Amino acid sequence: MITKCLFPVAGYGTRFLPATKAQPKEMLPILTTPLIQYGVEEALAAGMQNIAFVTGRNKRAIEDHFDITYELEDQINGTSKENQLHSIRELIGRCTFSYTRQAHMRGLGDAILTGEMLIGNQPFGVILADDLCVGEPDNVMAQMVRVYEKYRCSVVAVEEVPLGEVDKYGIISGAQLDDEHIQIERMVEKPAPQDAPSNLAVIGRYILTPDIFEILRSTPPGKNGEVQLTDALQTQAAEGEVIGYRFQGRRFDCGSVDGFVEATNFFYARRAETP
Ligand code: UTP
Repeated sequence: MITKCLFPVAGYGTRFLPATKAQPKEMLPILTTPLIQYGVEEALAAGMQNIAFVTGRNKRAIEDHFDITYELEDQINGTSKENQLHSIRELIGRCTFSYTRQAHMRGLGDAILTGEMLIGNQPFGVILADDLCVGEPDNVMAQMVRVYEKYRCSVVAVEEVPLGEVDKYGIISGAQLDDEHIQIERMVEKPAPQDAPSNLAVIGRYILTPDIFEILRSTPPGKNGEVQLTDALQTQAAEGEVIGYRFQGRRFDCGSVDGFVEATNFFYARRAETP
């Protein structure tokens, strides 16, 4: 059973300035729900009720969101507005939340290593909340748990992206096992299109085995001087220990303005269709 999910949320969210000057980008809402809440709902539905955040300065609103707000609750108790808090109350009731801070913005790999003491020696999920995923009938993390149970190694969610956009992602290549699964052989962080081994990009959903921490500890800074998770995963991939999974569903890159607007329109249309 995978019970823990790590949320690296220390990034500055510079693409959303000035909105993210004094608030975390993970608190930006799609309709009325903050991005981070969609991520935690996905983790819980995949069986991961222990939620671990790697936070940074300016991220206190995330902690407050996953806590009771007594004054507000008191005021709306018994009114028609109360049901708007139903979903967050349920998460607070069913999950545990733990936090640690990444002192320096040294990259996603460093953020994950910072979370080691919250995770311990067990496989765990990782969700980058600015990638908002919609999976049918099961959410993407729940699909990945099934992949982990089959292959018992690290799993990364992948999707095809236009060749012109490969330099925004970790790009993989390897042996196609079937329509959905790839035994990854190569992973390259943000390659130029001419250097990309394919157009299959890793998106913000991972299941990692705990040996990743030891690997990250000895992974030198890579692209942009940051400790890259992709480089550590390449070490696992060289041992045949990483599966790329083409998930069923849709991903919105809510770290970009275009993806954020697309997600908003999608959720708005879906809500309008719901009786
Ligand atoms: P991004 O590359 O999206 O960076 O990080 P960002 O700072 O959040 O956003 P922009 O590009 O400035 O707009 C990918 C994920 O890794 C986390 C971020 O919080 C995000 O979830 N991250 C990145 C960290 O937690 N620590 C880091 O040092 C770097």
